Amino acid sequence: MVAQRTREVEISGIRKMFEAAPPNAINLGLGEPDFEPPPEVIDAMCEAVRGGKNHYGPSAGLPVLREKIAARYRERDPATNRENVIITGSGSEGLMVAALALYNPGDEVLVPNPGFVLYGPHARLVGATPVPYSLAESRRFLPDFRELETLVGRRTTAIVVNSPSNPTGAVLPKATVDRLVAFADRHNLTIVSDEVYEEMVYDGPFTSFWGRTDRVVIANSFSKTLAMTGWRIGFLVAPRPLAVELNKMHYHVMACPPTPAQVAVLAGLASGAATRAMVKEFKARRELVVRLAREVAGLQLVPPEGAFYAFPRFSWPRSATEVAHALLSRGLITTPGDAFGSLGASHLRLSFAASRDNLRRGFRLLSEFAETAAEPNGG
Ligand SMILES: Cc1ncc(COP(=O)(O)O)c(C=O)c1O
Repeated sequence: MVAQRTREVEISGIRKMFEAAPPNAINLGLGEPDFEPPPEVIDAMCEAVRGGKNHYGPSAGLPVLREKIAARYRERDPATNRENVIITGSGSEGLMVAALALYNPGDEVLVPNPGFVLYGPHARLVGATPVPYSLAESRRFLPDFRELETLVGRRTTAIVVNSPSNPTGAVLPKATVDRLVAFADRHNLTIVSDEVYEEMVYDGPFTSFWGRTDRVVIANSFSKTLAMTGWRIGFLVAPRPLAVELNKMHYHVMACPPTPAQVAVLAGLASGAATRAMVKEFKARRELVVRLAREVAGLQLVPPEGAFYAFPRFSWPRSATEVAHALLSRGLITTPGDAFGSLGASHLRLSFAASRDNLRRGFRLLSEFAETAAEPNGG
């Protein structure tokens, strides 16, 4: 009864874990900030709804918001204007729109392994083939350019990149961004750069792909930076001719982005103080997680440099799903690394969008599990 593509796309491994969670479990599986939107943003949302801003708006979003975003991107490319910006109903929608607008059936698309769960399915949904490229822990989760050269072929049209990364927490250094741009230029690929965690970096600066090439679509979102995952609001930035095509697809997916959420976001962009405070707390938790992970027998962690995820590797003789289920039965929700691709097989994704107390308690459960997990039938 349903179309082939519906049968082929699986429900995300992240969602599956949530659905199996016992009550009162400690949740280190969250992919969203454990914060609320800033008070002035909540007020602006309420006022917008009460003030009658409850109707359709322009498909590409409110001009004033597009302009505000363009002004931020002008730091990266002085020629950026609001015509480059499309407001979307979330980063997820923006990524789907990019797939619809860019990939032909039969195309190949390079996607990160491990990588965020939507890139591969989005390619498949439009008839393209995702081709995973490795982000090996031994390379600190950075791409291997020799491998990339072997994967690119006649049908490759795009490469998806994500920095800071979900799930690894890696941040692409400027030199790697430049090499990726050169690689994409050489092979006529469009870069789809998912930059939703751009403001969450802890060590060095963040390097955007915007302003470095004309063959790029930036997917971004307010979900994480303004702690409004439930409001579904994000944006795409693209060169003008591409932005027109993206907007066409966007119109057919959702007509226009939510009007009241756009008004509220404008209030959030005004100061940025709440985002900075949240990032400061995430940075402190990152230190805590790095320290706690060192104390767990059989766990190795490359310290995350961005986003709010740690992606440790375990040396216990079992699969990531088995480990995650064993932890779940002890009251700890984690995400099995293989939900993000084959190279996540011996990893767990631990979100530090959880209180310091819960992080300590979660790692205690992890340590208790680790004491028995080294034996094949333990744990
Ligand atoms: C890397 C990455 N991209 C995009 C998204 C989508 O975010 P949203 O659809 O809430 O804007 C997420 C959410 O977890 C993510 O981790």
